Amino acid sequence: MSDKSIIILGIESSCDETSAAVLADGKILANIIASQKVHETYGGVVPELASRAHQQNIVPVVDQAIKASKIDKRNISAISYTRGPGLMGSLLVGASFAKAMALALNIPLIEVNHLQAHIHAHFIIEKDGFSNQPGFPFLCLTVSGGHTQIVRVNNFFEMKLLGETIDDAAGEAFDKIAKILGFAYPGGPLIDEYAKTGDAQKFNFTHPNVPGYDFSFSGLKTAFMYFIRDNIKRDSEFIVKNKADICASIQKTIVDILMQNLKQAAIDHNITEIALAGGVSANSLLRKTLKNIGEERNWKVYIPKFEYCTDNAAMIAETGFLKFKHNEFSSQELAPVARLKFI
Ligand code: KG4
Ligand code: ZN
Repeated sequence: MSDKSIIILGIESSCDETSAAVLADGKILANIIASQKVHETYGGVVPELASRAHQQNIVPVVDQAIKASKIDKRNISAISYTRGPGLMGSLLVGASFAKAMALALNIPLIEVNHLQAHIHAHFIIEKDGFSNQPGFPFLCLTVSGGHTQIVRVNNFFEMKLLGETIDDAAGEAFDKIAKILGFAYPGGPLIDEYAKTGDAQKFNFTHPNVPGYDFSFSGLKTAFMYFIRDNIKRDSEFIVKNKADICASIQKTIVDILMQNLKQAAIDHNITEIALAGGVSANSLLRKTLKNIGEERNWKVYIPKFEYCTDNAAMIAETGFLKFKHNEFSSQELAPVARLKFI
């Protein structure tokens, strides 16, 4: 790190993670994430509780990130923050904090689109210099609790949305199905865990019929609800007796739906650099399937470290760094946007 280093403080507060990160010339110095446990018993994120928790966490999280990075806050070049999409009450906490701190330090502000940042997570450089960056153009499948998209990335800021979910996100589908099974929120990781010992061919669920590269998961969720209801009528112990097979079968269906469109997009666009982003990237079957199809089709597959897949400020700082180099700064008047469009 030299006197001329570009040091970015990134702030993320779009959903239920309060996070702050420090990046110097694209290299990660600190990435602190405070996850909110208050939503566990509600089966999903409660927006009002999320904003209150952000309000409690934001100062200690930023303080911890600056201390862990060992930088002097007077050397920060700019502050980047998530402008959207996300929960309005949550976004307001991060945006207001970023604005106040930028004013206090007299440094520029940089607004960040959360979905672009998930993709830019692939360009974060580790402390030891390691990075595994996809080459342009690449396709990125972003799968999280809030989003499911296939994006063609031509360069850092030229991105084309090829397809997205028309209703529920993939992570949301995992969580809602898990809730039907009686699991706590977020249930996606539990489905993954139980599925490990199950037979994925035991139960069949039909795939949605959606044109192009778009996705739909709400029909699957409803079909699953009826499937459980009907089977419980016949045997009240149905879930307990078949937990692993149910989880394996539904997980395979979700992964197959995701991979079908990704595979088609890769063929149609003649692209072999394939990247994954978002919290559902943690799913072991999705990772395995992507790697297997990748070997079959000569794809180069990129999956960021889990810490950069789930919501985190390192990716927000990375986008901030890329925008800083383009002199793209934002005014203090800019307001967060809950439904911020992708481009
Ligand atoms: O990116 P993320 O942390 O937050 C959002 O932006 O939504 O993603 C969280 C989502 C949740 O829906 C969670 O259930 C899902 O990612 N998830 C998983 C796994 N780990 C996290 N879904 C399936 N299998 C997993 N192993
Ligand atoms: Zn996200």
